[in-house]
This record gives sequence, structure tokens and C-alpha cells, in this order.
Amino acid sequence: MSKDQFIKNDGNSLPTAEGWGGAVQLKGIYKWVNTGTKRTFLLKDINLTVNEGEFISIMGPSGSGKSTLLNVIGMLDDFNEGQYSFMGEPVQNLKEKQRVNLYKQYIGFVFQAYHLIDELTVYENIETPLIYKGFKTSERKAMVADMLDRFQIVGKKDLFPAQLSGGQQQLVGIARALIANPKLILADEPTGNLNSKQGEEIMELFKKLNREDGVTIIQVTHSEKNAAYGSRIIHLLDGRVERVER
Ligand SMILES: Nc1ncnc2c1ncn2[C@@H]1O[C@H](COP(=O)(O)OP(=O)(O)O)[C@@H](O)[C@H]1O
Ligand SMILES: [Mg+2]
Repeated sequence: MSKDQFIKNDGNSLPTAEGWGGAVQLKGIYKWVNTGTKRTFLLKDINLTVNEGEFISIMGPSGSGKSTLLNVIGMLDDFNEGQYSFMGEPVQNLKEKQRVNLYKQYIGFVFQAYHLIDELTVYENIETPLIYKGFKTSERKAMVADMLDRFQIVGKKDLFPAQLSGGQQQLVGIARALIANPKLILADEPTGNLNSKQGEEIMELFKKLNREDGVTIIQVTHSEKNAAYGSRIIHLLDGRVERVER
């Protein structure tokens, strides 16, 4: 199986010697934290397959586990029970370094709280994934310039995150997530701090990346309108999938 391709399946395939199908396949995932004698479940029995080229939305009230689920999918958070296959790789068996490499190779993550690096300028923040991926300086320059232009933040390139508004930081976070042409975009309320016009532009950009370039997208959103960009809406409640809307 080529690791460069997501495997298409119906979501019900059995595990094979080479791994499972689907870009992302979660089976019976539980995540909890223990505080003293009390155990708090953050995720309960999550079963989810996302195939190549899908665009799905995750909704649910605050505290229902949306960010936790996205972080687990992005291999940024551990889970306690269950099995997770990412690109056919059994995540629970991978070493930290292997997870990081898979992340860098495939994933563009838009964080709810931006997670920009305070000490780096806008330009340098957007450039970071390209350095990880080994692009040459001249290539990086051209690609960052293109992104700055596309997001209309050329004039902000030498500023630091603290000098930007929330909306501008969010745009920089999106530019950083997209610049290295990820195969999977994980976006946690990506338009939460944008005005409605900017928000719609981002959603249209996601739609284009999904339809024309086959990029797989999993987004968390509070907006019914944005959720409708997905072909499936996963509703979470108290760490569980409450229902799936198609
Ligand atoms: N590391 C943690 N330790 C304890 N509780 C946590 C931790 N991370 C998240 N939680 C709790 O788990 C629940 C789900 O959080 P989160 O995934 O951020 O929800 P959402 O993104 O849907 O608002 C919340 O009640 C949150 O307080
Ligand atoms: Mg959240």
C-alpha cells in the first residue's frame, strides 16, 4: 500500500495485515483524565472513518469534546483505549517521532487558539511548515509571498502575533496550515474570529481545496452554515457521537 495515498473504502473493512482503510479510522476510542479518585471521560467510544476527499464537520456544545477529538485525530493528544489508524498506520503503536513525522507530512492544523509562535514574525510563522518539509529558501520565499498575498496580509508580514487582532492571527494560522499543501486539514473553529465576509472566503477556499485538489477536511464549527459545507455532520455530546447528519 502506498503511504502517499489515502485508501478508499466503505468504512466497514476489516483490518488487514497492512492496516485499515480510510484516511482516518477511529475504533472504540476512549480518552479520560484521572483527578484523585475521580475519572472524567473526555471521549467515549468514538467510531469514525473518514475517507480520502471527504469534508466533514463536527458540531456540539462547548465542552462536548470537539477539540479533544480533533487533537486525537491530529495525533497531538493521546487516547487511553481503542484503535486509531491514520493512513493505514496504527497510531497506538507508533513512537512519538513517527507521529510527528506523519503529522508534518500530511496534516495542516488550524488551532482554535491559533498557537502562533510569539517570537516569530507573521512571515516566519507561515514559513515554519516549509522548513520542516525541507523546501529551499527561494521556494519558501515565493510560497510565503503567495500566501500573504492570498490572505491580504502582506502589510503585516514583519509584525509579531501580539501586534495583530484576533482575526488577523486566525488568518495567519490558516495560512500556516495550508502553505505546505497538506492532504488532511484539521480545523478547529477556523472562522470563529473572522468577520462574515472573511469567514465565507475561507469556507469557499476549503471547498475549492476539497473539490479540486482532493484535500480531506475535518472542521469543528458552531455555525450551521459552515457545517453545511461538509457532507456529514458529526454531533458530539459529552464526549460521545450523539448523531450523524448527512
Ligand atoms: N487535559 C484535560 N484535563 C481535564 N479536563 C479536560 C482536559 N482537556 C479537556 N478537558 C475537558 O474536557 C471537556 C471537553 O473539552 P474540549 O474538547 O475542549 O471541548 P470543546 O472543544 O467541545 O469545547 C471539557 O469539559 C474540558 O474542560
Ligand atoms: Mg474546542
